Amino acid sequence: MPRGVQAQDRTCVAPAPLAGALGAEVLGLDVSETLVPKDMAALKDAFLDHKVLVLRDQNLTPASLLTFSRHWGDVHFYPYMTGLEEQPEVFEIKTAPEARRVFGNRWHSDQMYDPCPVKATLLYAKELPPVGGDTIFSDLELAYAHLSEGLKSLLAGLRIYCDGADKSRYGGKSREEWYADGGMDEKLSQAEQKPKIAVHPLIRTHPETGRKCLFIGDQVQRFDGFTNEESAPLLDYLMTFIQRPEFTCRIRWEPGTLVMWDNRSTCHYAIADYAGHGRRMHRVTIAGDVPF
Ligand code: SIN
Repeated sequence: MPRGVQAQDRTCVAPAPLAGALGAEVLGLDVSETLVPKDMAALKDAFLDHKVLVLRDQNLTPASLLTFSRHWGDVHFYPYMTGLEEQPEVFEIKTAPEARRVFGNRWHSDQMYDPCPVKATLLYAKELPPVGGDTIFSDLELAYAHLSEGLKSLLAGLRIYCDGADKSRYGGKSREEWYADGGMDEKLSQAEQKPKIAVHPLIRTHPETGRKCLFIGDQVQRFDGFTNEESAPLLDYLMTFIQRPEFTCRIRWEPGTLVMWDNRSTCHYAIADYAGHGRRMHRVTIAGDVPF
């Protein structure tokens, strides 16, 4: 123990990194119980350092998932679908065995089309296929750091135009039609849908660490002030770049696994490799702020 640190100041939070890029597993915490302040503070530091935290063997009801989630900020409601009847803040991501679509099966940060995109997401595994259904994360700060100085200065002034209703991303379908096709239509929100459009800086500064990232994902339609056609070659390059295996970690779920990630510096991809099997997760998203 370092000199000056008292036994009562020590925390049991000891994150074990999962990959060279990002992601860490935190052992020995039961988040359904109230965490002592030093453990909560250590967990928050680990979240900023590792960006994706994995907590295994949790036993969470929708209510206790929500209680833990509230330590990270206010709940952000997903605009396109409703939450659980008994706990509307908790949204169930359910892939039926016969579903033709898997939710989140594209590289994205959660709700980039919102003027205040989601800060953090907490996803808890309830039911899983026998194999498959992993989630991959990419570290957008590491990706930014690996760009050449020439490209960094070219990108510095660019802004991204994000459109949540862009039909070109859904094979010409509206999101509602797309979800219905995937067997998720019973959860569609009946609330009046306002346009989900936002313009953000492409190079985003993390509000807590000050680190820069390449804030990109498939919800970006084009660069602001550019046509789709003009934007496509550079967008395609950057989207491919962020998927380099060296920038990623891959999470293998078990029932009871809770994963939480920082959407301000990462993006993720839910792998659709379990046709004929079901997968059911509970998700809470935490409100973010205006990117700068
Ligand atoms: C999501 O994109 O929020 C869901 C990811 C997953 O289901 O693995």
